[in-house]
Amino acid sequence: MPKKTFYITTPIYYPSGKPHIGTVYTNIVTDTIARWHKILGEDVFFSTGTDEHAQKIEKQAKELGLDTKAYVDSIIPEFKKAFEKYNIQYDKFVRTTDENHKKYCQKLVKQLYEQGDIYKGKYEGWYCNGCETYYTEKDLIDGKCPMHGTKASWFEEEAYFFKMSKYEKKVIDYIKKNNYITPKYRQEFIINRMKEGVRDLCISRTNSEWGISLPWDHKHKIWVWFDALPNYTSNTASSPWKKFWPANVHVIGHDIIWHHSVIWLSMLIAAGIELPKKLLVHGFIMGEGGLKMSKSLGNVIGPLELLKTYPVDSIRYFLLREIPLGSDGAFSYTALKERHNSELVNGLGNLHARTLSMIEKFYEGKISKSSKNELPKKFNYTKFEESMDKFELHNALSEVMHFVNECNKYINDNLPWELAKTDKKKLDIVMYNLTDSLRIISILIEAFMPETSEKIQKSLGMKKKEDYSKAKFGLLGNNKIEKVGYLFTRIDEGEKMKENKVEIKVEHKPIKPIIPFTEFEKLDLRVGKIIRAEAHPNADKLCVLQVDFGDHKRQIVAGIKLHYKLEDLINKKITVVVNLQPTSLRGVESQGMLLAASDKDNIVLITLEKDIPKGSRVS
Ligand code: MSP
Repeated sequence: MPKKTFYITTPIYYPSGKPHIGTVYTNIVTDTIARWHKILGEDVFFSTGTDEHAQKIEKQAKELGLDTKAYVDSIIPEFKKAFEKYNIQYDKFVRTTDENHKKYCQKLVKQLYEQGDIYKGKYEGWYCNGCETYYTEKDLIDGKCPMHGTKASWFEEEAYFFKMSKYEKKVIDYIKKNNYITPKYRQEFIINRMKEGVRDLCISRTNSEWGISLPWDHKHKIWVWFDALPNYTSNTASSPWKKFWPANVHVIGHDIIWHHSVIWLSMLIAAGIELPKKLLVHGFIMGEGGLKMSKSLGNVIGPLELLKTYPVDSIRYFLLREIPLGSDGAFSYTALKERHNSELVNGLGNLHARTLSMIEKFYEGKISKSSKNELPKKFNYTKFEESMDKFELHNALSEVMHFVNECNKYINDNLPWELAKTDKKKLDIVMYNLTDSLRIISILIEAFMPETSEKIQKSLGMKKKEDYSKAKFGLLGNNKIEKVGYLFTRIDEGEKMKENKVEIKVEHKPIKPIIPFTEFEKLDLRVGKIIRAEAHPNADKLCVLQVDFGDHKRQIVAGIKLHYKLEDLINKKITVVVNLQPTSLRGVESQGMLLAASDKDNIVLITLEKDIPKGSRVS
């Protein structure tokens, strides 16, 4: 029987500068899911690549006095190198300047034109070069792009339009019926935005030399997104990749959901092409302190620089474990170091080192099989698999690390060095359970930390990679172990760390710019009652609050621990912004933000003068 196919994609990146950790994050997430499906025994196709016809790229090349194609050619190796260093095992790297891709796009737009779905008109409106997207006056904030905060430019010209409005209903139906967008709240957001109306889409420009020409009107270049989205199908247009379409999962960041739901689905429906199954939306990696990474703030984290201090698997582990997939997460060197030292060095590394040294010492390096399953049964397979199915990679990893802790506890409870003196039979059972658990762990972490997985397998004398069906007790033979050294070594504060430390320069503005009321109105502020207050497990200044809003409860992480005793917080009624995108603060999810006033010494909660029911609106 042919294997089940699984096609997963990343967005294709603008090669307008070196990749940063956010870019690599998307690929790590995608790579992890792809590897998981491989060890499930599926036939996986993973594509990534670069989106090269952006106007900002043409502009950059001009400024440098370079030919645009030569300019992008010089940047692509940076992306490939970063992906290679992070062990991103993609199958195809598509470039939109590839001839095949260009031909595919021209054929597609021609079809849409000939069937009457593309017409000529006049475009008048705003355009942001940062996201290469058209905006109406209403979309802009103070004349600036809502995504990039940079001034949008006005342009008017003759252009071609795609009849996107015609497909609105079909797109909504498809999204709803198939739960196309994960997480669900992102889907609701898009559906609500669609209810405000879907307009026809401008898809061509005449003010540019760079791009793919419309086949029937060469002075028009195809708008970059209309040429980028079809990379997912141009990839699979010919053999042997045809069998992979429709894609099982498109992985993207939350800034480009509209493009991948409304625009992409409308294009495909219009062209009569089967629709992709799932859009998995991840959050943003923010710079230290939770600020958006940007060159001007000097807080951009370079993936290759990070590798000078940390092993690749520690960074992969940290990003996947620390940030719940879907939420934004602030990158923190301290948290990375802590997870590396405590969970990887002390947890997994220690388990591996102790077990192997005891096999060496008590059995001269030879594993001795036993049939009593005492340890692997402690691993919760159901929870792990459910988390993987739901793309909750952080929860899946947490299950694995829980099992690692159980294994370390098993050593401490059984004291094998004592058993070696008193009970050889029990020692056989304990040591086999430990080595076989390490083998199982190596399979469980293969998708997340491929190098570590391989190292463990090598150390256990395993000759080939094992798939997930082998992640059960009793399959390790009487192998001879091999010395591979420590899995991880401790990283301490010091010179090495400083190399990477970035200073965050925050511009001090006493008064923020005026915003229209419609912007303020977007905030949903509610009264909530604190019903539980606990210290944050990883941060001195933070506490984790459970807040009751009457119709629901939510968890808020707040930086008030040094200013309030935890017990004094209970029963306080506070004001909370409840429609902020959830985020992870040092590994704990925060589902909102409480309001407090502060000066340089104090932080004071905004409480209520009189009692009012939980859930009341604050305006
Ligand atoms: N070229 C378009 C995508 C076209 S796909 C048909 C584009 N490129 S991009 O280079 O700007 O962004 C590519 C991806 O990187 C997006 O999914 C975006 O969300 C993601 N990220 C960019 N910065 C990021 C972080 N700081 N953190 C996480 N992901 C980030 O958009």
